[in-house]
Amino acid sequence: MDARGYIRSSTSWAFAAIGAIAIMISAIYVVYFRSPLQKSVAIDSSSIYGADENLSLERRNEPILPIQKPINLDKEKIELGRALFHDTRLSKDDTVSCASCHDLDNGGDDGLKRSIGVENKEGEINAPTVYNSSLFFRQFWDGRAQNLHDQIPGPIENPIEMGSDWKEVLAKLNADGDLVKSFMKIYKSPPNKDNVIDALASFEASLITPSRFDRWLLGEDSALSEAELDGYRLFVQYGCIACHQGEGVGGNLFQRFGVIRAYEKNSPFEKADFGRFNVTGREEDRFVFKVPTLRNIELTAPYFHDASSETLKEAINKMGIYQLGISLPPEDLESIRQFLRALTGEELQ
Ligand code: HEC
Ligand code: HEC
Repeated sequence: MDARGYIRSSTSWAFAAIGAIAIMISAIYVVYFRSPLQKSVAIDSSSIYGADENLSLERRNEPILPIQKPINLDKEKIELGRALFHDTRLSKDDTVSCASCHDLDNGGDDGLKRSIGVENKEGEINAPTVYNSSLFFRQFWDGRAQNLHDQIPGPIENPIEMGSDWKEVLAKLNADGDLVKSFMKIYKSPPNKDNVIDALASFEASLITPSRFDRWLLGEDSALSEAELDGYRLFVQYGCIACHQGEGVGGNLFQRFGVIRAYEKNSPFEKADFGRFNVTGREEDRFVFKVPTLRNIELTAPYFHDASSETLKEAINKMGIYQLGISLPPEDLESIRQFLRALTGEELQ
């Protein structure tokens, strides 16, 4: 189906209308009453995050929740996971590691429109960041993995990413005496599928990136400039917050791309554009994606699952048009961009 065909279809308008109403209701709900989902996320995090350093300051009551570096993760597992994350033996021909597509020095993605896997094979969708991924309620753009443990076998077995299988990977890892020793010490067992996944997931759980905005949320007034604060107010007032919210400033809802105006493309739609529809097969899930995190967004161009926006301003503009039905004035675009830049992890700058 091409873009025009889709727009012509009357059902798409019905979905758009239902979507628009749902967004308005959720915007009001989130902004004024705060969603119960966030409350449960907040309770969850208390077990991972340590005591609040800024307890003397009063935490603000905002629909975005502050994050802090987790303190009670197992350091040995994190270090083992870090080594595996950079280990090319997880790929078929020892050429690609997780870090090839999730460069931790560059926002946790690869900066490409589509990733390049083993044998220079091109992927089907833009690589998201791995930073803060442990906060997301599902993994992947279409949410097909429930959590990081479910997600990890994906790239290892995907023929256009690492193109390997567990038998091959485990044979290589078990042939490395030092690595086997590390696994024996931590897991009392040589490398197997479960403990490799567990070490990688432990490392990913450590990739939490507190920003200046988090310090502001925790009550530090001077952490944000006036311009950034104005940008945040606009982000709330325009309703971006209805979808990009919670600890991840995203990552806790599914939403349609093209709520008010149907998502268009210059080229024919591809399977990856159908999003959640590929998982559920339900027509109403066509073009529905996990709302992506906006943390570290200035570092992760190009934007959207199809990498259709090169710059952050262009992406914000598109969100105004497709999700909110408004053409944002240039000064508001700039202001929101300034706010979004305050979401970059302080350690990543
Ligand atoms: C060849 C490039 C490539 C490699 C190698 C790769 N990834 Fe990814 N990663 C991607 C792409 C592309 C996606 C998005 C796929 C999708 O949503 O369908 C993704 C998605 C993810 C996500 C989900 C994030 C989110 O927002 O939902 C996590 C977490 C992740 N990768 C971690 C890893 C780990 C751990 C490894 C190593 C075992 C790895 N990746 C290897 C390209 C890669
Ligand atoms: C109705 C829900 C909704 C609203 C409202 C919304 N967004 Fe989004 N946003 C999404 C979804 C869904 C995506 C992913 C779309 C895709 O890639 O297919 C997204 C993607 C983005 C991206 C690109 C992220 C990336 O990693 O590529 C940015 C930037 C963004 N939104 C900013 C904003 C801003 C700023 C506003 C307000 C002007 C806003 N959004 C309003 C749901 C929403």
